[in-house]
Amino acid sequence: MIIPQADPRDETTLTLRLADAAATMGLGRELAPLLKPGCVVWLEGDLGAGKTTLVRALLRAQGHEGPVKSPTYTLVEVYVVSKIYWYHFDFYRFNEAEEFEEAGLGEYFRDDAICLVEWPGKALPYVPEADLSLAFHFASRAEAGDDARIVELRPHSEVGRQCLKALSSRRGDAS
Ligand SMILES: Nc1ncnc2c1ncn2[C@@H]1O[C@H](COP(=O)(O)OP(=O)(O)O)[C@@H](O)[C@H]1O
Ligand SMILES: [Mg+2]
Repeated sequence: MIIPQADPRDETTLTLRLADAAATMGLGRELAPLLKPGCVVWLEGDLGAGKTTLVRALLRAQGHEGPVKSPTYTLVEVYVVSKIYWYHFDFYRFNEAEEFEEAGLGEYFRDDAICLVEWPGKALPYVPEADLSLAFHFASRAEAGDDARIVELRPHSEVGRQCLKALSSRRGDAS
């Protein structure tokens, strides 16, 4: 179960506790239908925090049945699901942000594509700004084996705000 928590720092931030990988998959299922073409989502957080797991859930929810591999080495994985282009990026291995420009990756950020970006900070200032960002944290580093994660969802555009509003009201409707 995902428990919404009030965030005193920013009333537009939605903070969720994800008890295990299944909860993260559940969030992906809820979020997937709310993402529209043209949407850019940044996924932040340390290695193993759950970024790729969330992407896998988004694609599965939209009907993609094949594997969802981490694009750590390929930089981008391409999926066409229900006639929508989904591009999954991972810039972890960038030595310098200019690699974004050298690889011509800006061309992927089109109005007919949904772009999901892991390690966006490594491609600044070239990577397009997010409509929505998800920052994953390990809930308790002290307890080894604890699967819980905290994720903070923040809107950065009107598109992102609408998306979070819909997610919040759905969650409200469901309870
Ligand atoms: N609450 C959780 N949310 C997401 N992944 C979790 C969770 N608990 C355990 N895991 C596990 O942690 C790993 C996360 O890996 P991954 O999604 O590839 O991380 P990242 O892309 O952030 O490096 C997976 O093996 C997943 O099964
Ligand atoms: Mg990853």
